[in-house]
Amino acid sequence: MQKLQLTLAIIKPHAVSNPVVLSFIRNLLKNKFVVLRTKRVNLDTKTACRFYKEHFGKFFYNRLVTFMSSGSIDLHVLGHVNAITLWRQMLGPTSVYKGQFQEPHCLRGMFGISDTRNVAHGSDSPESAEREIKFFFPDFSFYHWRNHDEEWFR
Ligand code: TYD
Ligand code: MG
Repeated sequence: MQKLQLTLAIIKPHAVSNPVVLSFIRNLLKNKFVVLRTKRVNLDTKTACRFYKEHFGKFFYNRLVTFMSSGSIDLHVLGHVNAITLWRQMLGPTSVYKGQFQEPHCLRGMFGISDTRNVAHGSDSPESAEREIKFFFPDFSFYHWRNHDEEWFR
């Protein structure tokens, strides 16, 4: 039996404020993943800077943290045997332009507005998933969840 892998999904402000896009994404998450935790927050710029510290100094950093603190975001801890790759595949390429031409049915291709306003975030490795989930859900018990396989939740 395969263990449940966890990832953090963040639905970005422009998607949270669009009811059609938001309900589409929520249905998708509900159908494809075990949604373990969900929370809506408003980040201040300082917290957004801390979360995205790996991108400090890049040309898009200021734009990114300003945007991510411009409105409500939805946080979801997702479980699936292949959660990290599956969610990133559903998102598609970081570049919305690339998504629209190469994978028009990915979320970023369908609902992305710009490279920064590209619908949602997904952790890129088990290590970053752990850091990111702890960042937003400090009381989340990895020990408890990672010892269950996917069937346990069905
Ligand atoms: P990155 O981690 O490279 O992409 P991903 O979200 O696919 O893991 O970048 C983090 C976020 O930074 C990205 O979702 C949007 C923003 N960003 C830009 O605004 N412009 C860019 O050219 C890049 C690479 C990222
Ligand atoms: Mg990334």
